[in-house]
Amino acid sequence: MSKIIVTGGAGFIGSHLVDALVEQNHDVIVIDNFSTGSKKNLEKSRGKVKILKTSLLIEKILKRIPKVLNGTDYIFHLAALPRIERSINDPIGTHQANVEGTIVALELARQLGVKKFLFVSSSSVYGIQKRLPLFESLLPNPQNTYAYQKLMGEYYSKIYNQMYNLEVIIFRLFNVYGPRMFSKGSYKLVFTKWLEQIRSKQPLTIYGKGDQTRDFTSITDVVRGLILGMTTELKNQYEILNLGGGQQKSIREMAKLFKNNVQFLPPRPYEEKFKEADINKAKKLLNWKPSTSIDEGIKKLLNYYTIYSTTR
Ligand SMILES: NC(=O)c1ccc[n+]([C@@H]2O[C@H](COP(=O)([O-])OP(=O)(O)OC[C@H]3O[C@@H](n4cnc5c(N)ncnc54)[C@H](O)[C@@H]3O)[C@@H](O)[C@H]2O)c1
Repeated sequence: MSKIIVTGGAGFIGSHLVDALVEQNHDVIVIDNFSTGSKKNLEKSRGKVKILKTSLLIEKILKRIPKVLNGTDYIFHLAALPRIERSINDPIGTHQANVEGTIVALELARQLGVKKFLFVSSSSVYGIQKRLPLFESLLPNPQNTYAYQKLMGEYYSKIYNQMYNLEVIIFRLFNVYGPRMFSKGSYKLVFTKWLEQIRSKQPLTIYGKGDQTRDFTSITDVVRGLILGMTTELKNQYEILNLGGGQQKSIREMAKLFKNNVQFLPPRPYEEKFKEADINKAKKLLNWKPSTSIDEGIKKLLNYYTIYSTTR
């Protein structure tokens, strides 16, 4: 059994990770300010996790590190204010959560002397590239403030590895989907928006022609990959790993799986057009590969939301 901090543990991805770690009998502590996350996400693990409701700010966490965090073995750092649009509308607030929040988490890791720091970054750091699939050693080319903030978090993680020998894994996630995608606030993931539109009998909105591609990854595959990152002993003390479905799908193709009318809106600026993950490195180092096909994953998601909508 290990003692594990999950920052952002009340959010969509974080709460699934927490449930899986609790199931494996680890001692889990969530650090979250509940800005976009919610207690409801942690219902399954209620009573089995400790929750520190606080922002990742120097004065809240580092001035006096809460005793309950002593002896932590691993930190998964997921706390962030994600979504491109939000970072464009609120560059300073998102910088504080995404960049300052990351250096606070790293400082916490250093001061607690943890074994590994696992930072959840984003495929957005690749931005526009000349070729696909996207592999980890490509030079990042971020196209918006969110992507740049995640990249700064990566660079801080790298320098903490170099300066303090902190073992670091950076995971670059590609469009994750699954239950609990409904986070608080007005900035939504594409499938969340579509599910809400289906519920209110509206057409699914698509920006541009819908020929832009993304690499959709199921939450169960992502969580499995994150935990393998924690448990696998790697040769190098610093690695970047893509976790993606390994297949690009256009937004128009995806909308067909939701079986609804669509409405086209003007394209959104500052977004890369194509994304596809090269997942060979995670396959080789973690013995990980996605096991949920996109058709099967969307079918499960639609089922889940039919039940969710009729019970709330
Ligand atoms: N969802 C995706 O498709 C996707 C893709 C790539 C990367 N990511 C990354 O995965 C992580 C989790 O994303 P998500 O989709 O679960 O988002 P989410 O908004 O559901 O979760 C983020 C969590 O962080 C918390 N939080 C925000 N600011 C905080 C702060 N300053 N201090 C403490 N807690 C704070 C929120 O309350 C929330 O619970 C993020 O780092 C995001 O950048 C997500």
